[in-house]
Amino acid sequence: MRMYDIILKKRDGHKLGHEEIAFFITEYVAGHIPDYQASAFIMAAFICGLDTEETACLTNAMANSGDVADLSSLGTVADKHSTGGVADTTTLLVAPLVASCGLKVAKMSGRGLGHTGGTLDKLESIPGMTVSLEMDAFIAQIKRVGAAITGQTMRLCPADKMLYSLRDLTATVDSIPLIASSIMSKKIASGAGIIMLDVKTGNGAFMETLEDSKALARTMVDIGNNSGKKTAAIISDMSQPLGCAVGNALEVIEAIEILQGETPGGDLLAVALKLSALMLQMSGIAQNETAAFYMLDEALCTKRALDKLGEIIAAQGGDSRVIRDTSLMPRAQYTGNMTATTSGILSAVDCRGLGLAVQELGAGRAKKEDSIDLSVGFIMKKRIGDRIEKDDILFEIYANDKNKLISVKQKLIGCLKIADSAKKPVLICDSIL
Ligand code: URA
Ligand code: CA
Repeated sequence: MRMYDIILKKRDGHKLGHEEIAFFITEYVAGHIPDYQASAFIMAAFICGLDTEETACLTNAMANSGDVADLSSLGTVADKHSTGGVADTTTLLVAPLVASCGLKVAKMSGRGLGHTGGTLDKLESIPGMTVSLEMDAFIAQIKRVGAAITGQTMRLCPADKMLYSLRDLTATVDSIPLIASSIMSKKIASGAGIIMLDVKTGNGAFMETLEDSKALARTMVDIGNNSGKKTAAIISDMSQPLGCAVGNALEVIEAIEILQGETPGGDLLAVALKLSALMLQMSGIAQNETAAFYMLDEALCTKRALDKLGEIIAAQGGDSRVIRDTSLMPRAQYTGNMTATTSGILSAVDCRGLGLAVQELGAGRAKKEDSIDLSVGFIMKKRIGDRIEKDDILFEIYANDKNKLISVKQKLIGCLKIADSAKKPVLICDSIL
């Protein structure tokens, strides 16, 4: 078999067989196929598409390109995954919520890239917290605490790491079969039997239209179910940041305050509760949605979920006192407010623009190797549909550089559209169970 022929076949729009896709992944990971041929293949797949069978083959080949975690000693274990967004801190709520209801969580998370944030970066803003657990420690922690959150080790899904870097540099990220196989290969290799997907839609998501987001969700759910995993997805809004806080430490503080009951929780809590309720139902711990919401409400009111977050933090070497005292979290040196210059209704938000603005403050990476400033970011005080009066505070900004504090204001104000009326976005647009 020759890679040249496989590229040619896909370039001309033909369907590839299982052996051809498996050959590409095996030989590429072994270093026998150069990046230029892999790039050409990925671009051909991006343009001509991959059908359901081809996508499933690619996913399985990638999932088996390295180690596959064996979590069988843990019994029923769940994982959740978001396709990526801004102020999308649901994992920090879902993991302690469902774990405190008795469902084990084996969460493998990623870092932020581009305009989106990543759970690993957020967790690293907690003093002392480690997010690189070896497999034995990961499993032992889930047994003892009920949940662990770690980055992926190099041995899991090397094919995805290699292909993702290529895609990032060759304008081939936003393809349904490529995203679906990338995410699902990692979820399958991570070993959990229950996979809860949160597919984002809107201008802050990788898939901007509802139609594309639904197709991505359907593809991923089918791949998961066909691989013997119980898989479900919701499609949730990313046309504005999900939480109010954008920036690593600020997002952790918001999650803690929600679990403390100090803040209402808004859309962020609503999505986290929906995901948690579905996970409890898929595991059989809750018989129906009403029962699941009842259990979750109790976990919140009794602060069991807050305590569980503290246990997860402590188990991973972090200072768990942060769950009672968020002043122990890193704080930026300078703060400033951005106020409204006109009155009206907040009618639209450039959510991607807000994600990029926080990156400019230092909270995100332009390249994978870049280091980031965990304390910077902003709190958005208004949501789409809210009435704004002149001089109302729109953003509280946290920065470590006075010039950036000033320059980001123009960027932030440019991301808001104020009009006479607005249509509130639907928060949870659909679900595939
Ligand atoms: N997240 C992933 O892990 N892979 C993609 O391709 C896109 C988002
Ligand atoms: Ca992510």
